[in-house]
Amino acid sequence: MNNQVKRYLSKTGNNEILERRFELLELSGIKNFFIDRVEIPDKGEILSKLALKYKDCKKCGLSNTRHNFVYGQGNPDADIMFIGEGPGEQEDRQGIPFVGAAGQLFNKMLKAISLEREEVYITNIVKCRPPKNRNPLPDEIESCIPYLYEQIWIIRPKTICALGKVAGNSLLNNNDTLGSMRGKFYNFQDIKLMVTYHPSALLYHIEWKRPAWEDLKMLMREYRKV
Ligand code: URA
Ligand code: SF4
Repeated sequence: MNNQVKRYLSKTGNNEILERRFELLELSGIKNFFIDRVEIPDKGEILSKLALKYKDCKKCGLSNTRHNFVYGQGNPDADIMFIGEGPGEQEDRQGIPFVGAAGQLFNKMLKAISLEREEVYITNIVKCRPPKNRNPLPDEIESCIPYLYEQIWIIRPKTICALGKVAGNSLLNNNDTLGSMRGKFYNFQDIKLMVTYHPSALLYHIEWKRPAWEDLKMLMREYRKV
């Protein structure tokens, strides 16, 4: 890390996310850059390198029970990013997000709005499976979320769709109910962010499918606009 970067980091209190950004820029061979807005070339390659770098992460207790670290999947240049809660059993086995029962419904949700899995980027708040699919704990989220911020920073989508209350609360840093978060757009680092039902909730509550459909239509209107 060069001296200019070291000085900047010490001034900003050695912020972990910023530090990652600089590592990333070094990794992508960029020498001269402005701190905030940098277009990253070869995003796919960078994301693959980072996934390899983090795959044995032991920053939180979920590392003790996981089989696979689930970084994310999809288009590194995606305009839209979907963020779930954490890997389930199938995801933990395969190392790919949204491939189990909730994943099947998620695929249908995408189809309903004419999107292909290959077009979008899909990831989760925590990258390792919480035992018995319990909600991730606050300290697990805190340990893991820098990876997500970094992914968002690399991909820079135009829209983000958070799936479920845990994803919404973690990104918006609140404890609001899903009902009060859905149906509108938030500004998240200049990205339009909306929150909707988690697909696994829709598996059990078919009465939520209609409002979920309204959310998806709202998402598509925005996606086509930006
Ligand atoms: N549920 C999630 O939140 N994420 C997945 O990847 C699978 C199920
Ligand atoms: Fe690391 Fe995140 Fe897995 Fe915890 S959940 S061990 S922070 S990758």
